[in-house]
Amino acid sequence: MTELADLSELARRRGFFFASNEAYGGTAGFYTFGPEGAALKRNVEEAWRDHFIRELGHMELEAPTVMPEPVFEASGHLDTFDDMILECGDCGATHRADHLVEDAVADIEDAEALPPERVADLVAEHDVACPSCGAPLADRPVDEFNLMFGTNIGPGSASPGYLRPETAQGIFVEFPRLKEYARNQLPFGVAQIGRAYRNEISPRRALVRVRELTQAELEHFVDPERDDPPLERVADVELPLYSAAAQQGDGGLETYTVRKAVDEGVVGSEWVAYYLGESMSFYERIGVDTDRFRYRQHLPGELSHYAADCWDAETEVGGDWVEVTGFAYRSDYDLRKHAEYSEEEFTVFRQYDEPKTVERATVDPDMSYLGPTFGEAAGDVADALEALARRDRSAFESEAQRVSEETSGDTPRDGDAVTVEVDDESYTLPVEKTGFAVEERTESGEHITPHVVEPSFGVDRLVYSVLVHRMETDEVDGEERSFLALPAGMAPTSVAVVPLMTKDGLDDRAHEVAEELRAAGLEVAYDDTGNIGRRYRRQDEVGTPYCVTVDYDTLEEDTVTVRERDSTDQERIAVDELPSAVRRLAAGATLSEL
Ligand code: GAP
Repeated sequence: MTELADLSELARRRGFFFASNEAYGGTAGFYTFGPEGAALKRNVEEAWRDHFIRELGHMELEAPTVMPEPVFEASGHLDTFDDMILECGDCGATHRADHLVEDAVADIEDAEALPPERVADLVAEHDVACPSCGAPLADRPVDEFNLMFGTNIGPGSASPGYLRPETAQGIFVEFPRLKEYARNQLPFGVAQIGRAYRNEISPRRALVRVRELTQAELEHFVDPERDDPPLERVADVELPLYSAAAQQGDGGLETYTVRKAVDEGVVGSEWVAYYLGESMSFYERIGVDTDRFRYRQHLPGELSHYAADCWDAETEVGGDWVEVTGFAYRSDYDLRKHAEYSEEEFTVFRQYDEPKTVERATVDPDMSYLGPTFGEAAGDVADALEALARRDRSAFESEAQRVSEETSGDTPRDGDAVTVEVDDESYTLPVEKTGFAVEERTESGEHITPHVVEPSFGVDRLVYSVLVHRMETDEVDGEERSFLALPAGMAPTSVAVVPLMTKDGLDDRAHEVAEELRAAGLEVAYDDTGNIGRRYRRQDEVGTPYCVTVDYDTLEEDTVTVRERDSTDQERIAVDELPSAVRRLAAGATLSEL
């Protein structure tokens, strides 16, 4: 069997994950994590929380998964969160058109970056056939398909909403409140671990492309002119980099320290480089094989609508590279958009080092003129004038006036007119009726829109990669053995207690030992089914790092045997020392050190 087929079989048999709703025929793209998988996933999430929230000092929130339509108008997802779909004219199966092209054309690795018309041409030029029924797809159109799941909020269709396609938006929309918790001081980071939904055209490869996924995202809000990342924390961390230049030329993977990657400009954003460095220890901690891992830079056509620089962490599974994390410098795109579409301020106040004297354009419209002239629109016209003065004071100033200002003050000349737009209507009035003036003020700071650096982890893909990378086989007592060499902190179960026999009081004592370990806060399995060898194999397969065997000597001497999963070495330990011994083992001690 191949590596991935082995994993599917193990995942199903041992309860890591399996396709959901099979009793009703199954639903493509949805997976249930069984007891072992749910525990492993939780451990991965806890390791992420421990590093990216606790250790780095960020905040965590939990936002709703359904959000109203205007959020996604602002974020750009309504317009641009599309994949290319191609429907077979014979069997009706739908396919990702860009994936069909990548599979059919040897030198195209990133068809997503091509326009749909070009992808349709490539399908025709390479005689691509439907993977489901074999019919030719040459004359089929390639369309854009929006990946968001739509819904209605409340009865009726008046208030459309969507299941969030990324957890990030739940953080961005709450920025006005979150900055208060951060006492209006940049930089600060807000993280969220939660579900996101994408109506993928062709879900595939088990947990790799699902329609309901878990993301662990960190949005780090920074002042682009003042905040630098604490690079010294990770300066010497080695990064396996596959740059855009290497992808486009003959280059391959190259190892850089974070410092060198920044100094040589291989990673353009210091913040992105910093997070590539911070993440290496996390991947190692959860059990990703770093020999099957790389950071790949996005090619120019591949960048998301919001991203200024982007690198993906990729793991190799089953011979393919899979994106497990996106690292994006999102600039001020998200906060600016939400400010534009909502009624809130998405800025923070940046204090100047010294107070500054600045010129400010202001208006004080003459409402006794605006009211009779513009009727119901007068209030909106006044607001539009104020906004225009802030944005473009030259709209109120004629050329002659600008020249005269330099010599005789800043009062507008009679006779100039200014025009504003309100709801697609133009309103023109004399500048003198706007009360326009330019004042000098002493200001202590200014409002700025923070920039955002985002590491965005796909938890399902991480769990999948760890399982693939940690499946091992060896030979024990002349028989092949499969085991999951998970790092101790990631294993669903810390220790399994197995009685040698289920008689003579061995099972009762084994239950007591298991209870004592549980009382000490450990994840404990009790296993008395089948012979002792089978029990060891079962625990090996789900990655339990230690088995504790209760035998006849236990009854005599109150000691047990502790067996290590990877080496299968065994040591005898006193029962009352067991909880602390297992904890020391989990923290990295070896059996011989106990
Ligand atoms: N907020 C940024 C964002 O959502 P993304 O690259 O679209 O960026 C981040 O997604 C991560 O989520 C990816 O690196 C991947 O690990 C995971 N992911 C995205 N779509 C997925 C899917 N359909 N199934 C499983 N994981 C997915």
